[in-house]
Amino acid sequence: MSYIDSEKIIAATERPMARYLESMKGDLEDWMPLEHAAQMLLAGTAFNETDFAADFRPIIAMMRLILEKSASGGWNWADPDVQKVFCDVASGAVYMMYADVLVDMVIEILKAAPIRTVVEVGAGSGFVTGRLCPALLAAGFGDVRLVITDMLESIHPVADSFRSRFPGLSIDACRWNIQTGPPQELQAMLAAPVFVFERFCLPYAGCGAIGNLAAISDVLLLVDDLSLSGRKASFDHIYGRIGTQFLVLEEAFRHLAACFSRTHTCDSAVIEKIHSPVSTFTLAIK
Ligand SMILES: C[S@@+](CC[C@H](N)C(=O)[O-])C[C@H]1O[C@@H](n2cnc3c(N)ncnc32)[C@H](O)[C@@H]1O
Repeated sequence: MSYIDSEKIIAATERPMARYLESMKGDLEDWMPLEHAAQMLLAGTAFNETDFAADFRPIIAMMRLILEKSASGGWNWADPDVQKVFCDVASGAVYMMYADVLVDMVIEILKAAPIRTVVEVGAGSGFVTGRLCPALLAAGFGDVRLVITDMLESIHPVADSFRSRFPGLSIDACRWNIQTGPPQELQAMLAAPVFVFERFCLPYAGCGAIGNLAAISDVLLLVDDLSLSGRKASFDHIYGRIGTQFLVLEEAFRHLAACFSRTHTCDSAVIEKIHSPVSTFTLAIK
């Protein structure tokens, strides 16, 4: 395993985190309206989405749909209503901002460590990958292997599409349910040191999957809401209806500490500025 300097990696995340802090302004400085909307949805109180900031409306529409669908037969990602509302959320300003911060983090970490493979876990339809690929080329990291994974078979056509759009990159794909250990096929695609990241996939698999991610990671970046207090907010109750697990920072750190020598909350300044009940960017280094 090549030498990885954890101090250097942590220092490298400071610049993207400063830009993240800077982007937390205007409506994004106060996330309580989202919690109020979730409370009203759970209570069945009628309200109009246009009473809320435009950036929050796709997220509120998704919470409303989760409640409607889970009350009438269940949530199915293949349902066209669900696909449309998730597409609106994923291409909305808030999700895009998180994707951009994440890509920024990946690039800065690559500058700080001799990483040879980047693995994106739970890549889904490639919202993050689509922003990462041009950034890798622009930063001169075309020789770093990119492996995208998801539990769904659809990861293969997603990878085909990125391979044809970005011939200058080496892109592999592997189907992987992270509730199980990394498949042999995936392990054969990796050149060490390996940097693994994921966004909004772990809540579907639970903290127990951290050990499986750690099995192939020299560096791991988790982009998920980890509750600081362990108390559920209204939107946690809503998302729970589509099978996401409520992740608590203390428990996630316990799993990480068993596998990594260093674990770091990257977004402390943002947590403080917006009085956030969750941390979102967690880094772990072997
Ligand atoms: C909310 S989507 C996020 C997709 C992408 N990371 C993004 O940020 O746009 C969650 C993704 O996690 C995947 N997923 C859910 N449970 C999983 C598991 N146990 N193992 C691997 N992938 C999983 C789903 O198939 C889906 O693509």
